[in-house]
Amino acid sequence: MRISAVISPKTSSELLILAVLDEKLHIPDFLKKNDADLVKNIQSFLKKIKFKGENKKSHLLSYEGLSSFSHILILGLGKKTDLDLEKLRQSMGESIKRAKSLEVKKVLSGLGELSLKNANTEEIALALTEGALLADYEFVSYKSKSKDSSIQDLSFSVKDKSSLNAFGHGIEKASVIADAVYLSRNLANTPSADKPPVKLAQVCQKIPGLKTKVFHEAELKRLKMNGILAVGQGSDHPSVLVEMIYKPKKKAKKVIALVGKGITFDSGGLSLKPAKSMEGMKDDMSGAGDVIATMQAISLLKPDVEVRGYIASAENMPGSKAQRPGDVYKAYNGTTVEVLNTDAEGRLVLGDALAYACEKNPDYIIDMATLTGACLVALGDRYAAIMGTDPDLVKKLIDAGNYVNEKLWELPLPEEYEEQLKSPVADIQNIGGPYGGSITAGLFLKHFVGKTKWAHIDIAGPSHSAADLPYIPKGATGFMVRTLCHFLTSF
Ligand code: BES
Ligand code: ZN
Ligand code: ZN
Repeated sequence: MRISAVISPKTSSELLILAVLDEKLHIPDFLKKNDADLVKNIQSFLKKIKFKGENKKSHLLSYEGLSSFSHILILGLGKKTDLDLEKLRQSMGESIKRAKSLEVKKVLSGLGELSLKNANTEEIALALTEGALLADYEFVSYKSKSKDSSIQDLSFSVKDKSSLNAFGHGIEKASVIADAVYLSRNLANTPSADKPPVKLAQVCQKIPGLKTKVFHEAELKRLKMNGILAVGQGSDHPSVLVEMIYKPKKKAKKVIALVGKGITFDSGGLSLKPAKSMEGMKDDMSGAGDVIATMQAISLLKPDVEVRGYIASAENMPGSKAQRPGDVYKAYNGTTVEVLNTDAEGRLVLGDALAYACEKNPDYIIDMATLTGACLVALGDRYAAIMGTDPDLVKKLIDAGNYVNEKLWELPLPEEYEEQLKSPVADIQNIGGPYGGSITAGLFLKHFVGKTKWAHIDIAGPSHSAADLPYIPKGATGFMVRTLCHFLTSF
């Protein structure tokens, strides 16, 4: 989709998008100047049908002969005082889906001329473009017949030269971020057979502008990354740890490490999952997908912080060499772990990666993982859980999430629950009691971060959407990529 901002667009698109705010049609400058008759016609029509423009209500007009637009979509945006960036994302998302169902190729949006109390033109452009691009996503790689319904051209009308520049920056940023979300969604939607750990590593190596190092099995053995190795030993596909480094040109304001769980398929191992629970387990590498995608975006957005991305990747299978319940391994940081349930595997690979990343003393370390089913029970599929050792870091991430509408909800890491991880034979065991499973998983990870300021984000719920949302199609969502991009560019 080509996206641009224009001051006086020619009134010749197939679909024009307009908004109704505070019960009044919002009229973009170019229409006021060039097509006053059309404006009058729409206004009297809206009056006739008593369209008040309630939020989420819309009206499609097909104006044969009256103007050079084949269709005009009038979106209700409710009250001006309630208008925010999320409403803009959603309205552009819905508009693009409407445009696709109408099979139009050229869209002109008048929403670029709206103003918001707490956001500047660049932010408005970013939100509108993100909404459009993210809604346009389709995963068709495995469809033998797919029809091309994509929009070729989307333009936003803007009022003047200075808005044009700011708008352009917003479009550029949004394109980088949406490309990254696409990458994360594509990786998670890809069948496990086509993305073994080594293949994920190759995806990392292809991203330009980063210093990338892949630790293959021999190297993992030499380094004694026994958690990553233990999880992968039941699979024919070797495990990997990947390090990707972005360094800014100027002295870095902060060094921030990102760690992603990259289980390319989670069968549960010998603690085998029931068939139904296994169906979605190709996306158990969503945390790693988010890290890879964010690193791609960061290499282009070029923030003033150093970002180190790590993915710990293995396939959790019940092969004859698989680890057994009751086995004990020594983790990279020396902690001995009794594995009582081989399905609690994410924490084992993350433990090694976190310990390795912390050795280099980053200012902050953040891990992302589809870690526990318990998280879905606690928060449902629209909220991720966040836990951490640094209240300031946790708050910054929650705020970044709220800004982009990816909701993070804090869970505690209470000392009292630590008891549950005590093992009779090793330093710790890999599961707690029957309740508070997301928290005991978080407490397990805490053993591997030392004193580094750390936040853990359990994305088991929102990494996948069962429903088609305005700009999040069914399937892998890429949840956290936008939050991380916003967070990392805010220093
Ligand atoms: N990958 C799963 C967690 C998961 C479950 C993510 C459902 C998304 C949807 C994880 O590896 C797992 O199996 N966790 C176990 C932990 C338990 C054995 C302590 C779980 O949640 O059941
Ligand atoms: Zn598991
Ligand atoms: Zn898992």
